[in-house]
Amino acid sequence: MSPIKRFLLSSNGRKTVMALTGLFLILFLVVHLAGNLQLLVPDQGRSFNEYSHFMSHSLLIQTVSKLNFAFIILHVLYSLWLTKQANAARPVGYQGRAAKEMTTWSSRNMGILGTLVLAFLLVHLKGFWYELKFGEVPVVLYPGAEEALTDAYRVVSEAYKNPLYALFYVLSMVAVGFHLYHGFQSAFHTLGLSNYRYKPVIRTVGTVFAVLVPALFALIPVVMYLQSAGY
Ligand code: HEM
Repeated sequence: MSPIKRFLLSSNGRKTVMALTGLFLILFLVVHLAGNLQLLVPDQGRSFNEYSHFMSHSLLIQTVSKLNFAFIILHVLYSLWLTKQANAARPVGYQGRAAKEMTTWSSRNMGILGTLVLAFLLVHLKGFWYELKFGEVPVVLYPGAEEALTDAYRVVSEAYKNPLYALFYVLSMVAVGFHLYHGFQSAFHTLGLSNYRYKPVIRTVGTVFAVLVPALFALIPVVMYLQSAGY
């Protein structure tokens, strides 16, 4: 067996795959958030549709998108594999008081949080990504523009007219936040970058990230729902 294959199958290798795919997905979230915040620009969706058009016509972005899906699948499969291994190795009574005091709530519940995030992702991809790729989406021609654009803004704004759908997004962002809170710090720890000097910095950045990013994501459905309701 090659050294790389042996490493990828080892316990450390599996954790490293989780950490690296997780950090890539964190990077994706930042770019995704920056793009999605354009939904809030008050210009009838023009900024968002131009951004969406650029993203869907760039070869580089489409390649990164494929990598993104591959990393999501790897991240999920490796998490299942690691959980199975941890359960098999865990002594009876691990969930006792001492274990609880040494770990955070989010670290003990990464499995549940990850499952909630995955459920959100499946609903999300079906509602937006699948719809934009394979659905019948109207086009819109803005004044002075040379070509009509797919009206991705309309797909999103129609979806958030439903208060339950908007609420589902807001609640899902709580799970995303807790998942990120542990995942961010855990990834740096696994990669050996969280020594006594950097640990406080990583913890602070991780906490701010885990609060700010989901909060801004959650703001989008809230604002768009309120707009659609005439506020
Ligand atoms: C208010 C919050 C969000 C909005 C409005 C939003 C909007 C969208 C839209 C419109 C697409 C389709 C893009 C396209 O194919 O042209 C998309 C794709 C996607 N979204 Fe979101 N999103 C949000 C939050 C999230 C969150 C929190 C996650 C992850 C936890 C996420 C993960 C993804 C992924 C993985 C894709 C597929 C990207 C690709 O094609 O590579 N999104 N999102």
